[in-house]
Amino acid sequence: MYRTHNCGELSKSNIGDEVVLSGWVQKSRDLGGMTFIDLRDRYGITQLVFNMESLPELCEQARKLGREYVIRAVGTVLERSNKNLKISTGDIEVDVKQLQVLSSSELPPFTIEDESDGGDELRMKFRYLDLRRNPLQRNLHLRHKMAQEIRKYLDEQGFLEIETPYLIKSTPEGARDFVVPSRMNKGQFYALPQSPQTFKQLLMISGYDKYFQLVKCFRDEDLRADRQPEFTQIDCEMSFVEQEDVLNMFEGMIRHLLDKMRNVKIGNDFPRISYDEALRDYGTDKPDLRFSMKIREISRLVKGKGFMVFDKADYIGGIKVESCASYSRKQLDRLTDFVTQPQVGAKGLVYLKINEDGSYKSSVDKFFKEEDFRQWKDEFDAVEGDLLLILAGGKDESLFALSELRLEMGSRLGLRSNNEFKPLWVLDFPLLEWDGENNRYSAMHHPFTSARAEDLEFIESDPGKLRANAYDLVINGVEIGGGSIRIHDMKEQKQMFRNLGFSDEQAESQFGFLMEAFKYGAPPHGGIALGFDRLVALFGGSESIRDYIAFPKNNSGRDVMINSPSSISDKQLQELSVKLDIKDK
Ligand code: AMO
Repeated sequence: MYRTHNCGELSKSNIGDEVVLSGWVQKSRDLGGMTFIDLRDRYGITQLVFNMESLPELCEQARKLGREYVIRAVGTVLERSNKNLKISTGDIEVDVKQLQVLSSSELPPFTIEDESDGGDELRMKFRYLDLRRNPLQRNLHLRHKMAQEIRKYLDEQGFLEIETPYLIKSTPEGARDFVVPSRMNKGQFYALPQSPQTFKQLLMISGYDKYFQLVKCFRDEDLRADRQPEFTQIDCEMSFVEQEDVLNMFEGMIRHLLDKMRNVKIGNDFPRISYDEALRDYGTDKPDLRFSMKIREISRLVKGKGFMVFDKADYIGGIKVESCASYSRKQLDRLTDFVTQPQVGAKGLVYLKINEDGSYKSSVDKFFKEEDFRQWKDEFDAVEGDLLLILAGGKDESLFALSELRLEMGSRLGLRSNNEFKPLWVLDFPLLEWDGENNRYSAMHHPFTSARAEDLEFIESDPGKLRANAYDLVINGVEIGGGSIRIHDMKEQKQMFRNLGFSDEQAESQFGFLMEAFKYGAPPHGGIALGFDRLVALFGGSESIRDYIAFPKNNSGRDVMINSPSSISDKQLQELSVKLDIKDK
């Protein structure tokens, strides 16, 4: 028998018991007469003790054990004289009588501890060792628990979990496809799904009514902390629903998860704001509502006073930072550096300090009078002690920079706690966005999204005016999910493809199967997909989804542990009828 108990299980109630434990050597301490070993497994750590006086040979054997050896120990549970309150087994230790090495270990390339000395790249290369560390074990445990709760919730609501294929045909979700050559169908390729979008719609046509799947999706796009080339969606679809039904169902799921996983009750605090409002007030379609600090446009107020930067700008707006008028020159310079870095893109930063004594201090004192500053103050509902930060330029660029500045100030002022959760829906997205590069419209969500009924009159004449029956779920500034009510009418779908610049032939060759299916009785339907990795990371209090995925890719899309992607043999290429044409290698 390898074990009677695991390493996190023994307590005072086991004192005097004979036990068998197996696990990894976390560390050993040799105190001359005694040798102590911390034995670790997924469940915890138990202290083993070897006594030189009573069992000298065994003690000698124990002294030779290196870190990460896998051992089996038989012994008696004793009460510890020197208790460790930090661990669950801290009241006891096991006095070992028998020891067996199950597997030896080379010295690991980094320490397997909460704070490891290993760099990112090294830990990714030895991911199986990194995964032994507590923080990652906790993260994967959280992921498992959340998956169970999600399944439980959706099952109780009558959803069926149905798998859809991975070797499919291209789905237009906006990214590039990963493709797989077919040996049996020479010259032809499968695409890995960017999402199971068309399949879940077909399942509605098949009458399954409520579908869900925790499913891998694949997108060949530039990677960031919250983006992986393969990631997991909680993908859902429902029949005979309107937007309101979908929103209520998934509000319920978020409430359920917050309650079960974090013991957070949000009550009715689940605002809905329009896309236009989100951009106007927060400069982004994924606002972080843990703090207010809304953006105000002040173009009308400040133009025409002789300050060229404002006079030439399309848009001038700013934020009010409460109680920060005491910011030093240096602090303001740092904020200027922040907004002018290329990723943020502002040209400069204008500030107005509303000092405690009622006086004003601004970087544009020369151009504006006290009376002007009083108007700015009123516009922002500011009081003495507040600081106004103002940006000017093109509208989209300024709003983007303001949204970044707002988040930065929120972080600096400690207003973005990981223990607070502020979910919201963003609604009324435009259906289409103009793609200047290709001179045509593209779908803001995807081509299967329906337009708001009251806007349908513009579908041919002015498609840019159409608003979508689409919604995004945002929590703490992270886009967690998106979905829509779909088109279920073949004619409307055809028109949409035309709007997107597809010829009837192209639409037929790519999506003929869906239009064909629409001929046989399609129920009105809609759905949503939530980014499961993002949701888990958010609940775990981190921005990086990598820490919540067992075997993630690095920022160049590589798995450095298995060294993938890699070349394949000439034989494999021949079988696939694939010829490489790599010029710069
Ligand atoms: P969408 O493209 O908005 O919708 O994707 C849904 C959610 O998936 C997450 N996500 C990602 N997570 C990690 N890495 C990525 N590369 C990545 N890309 C997306 C986000 C996003 O909100 N078929 C539609 C859904 C529908 O209409 O029902 C879809 O896939 O959290």
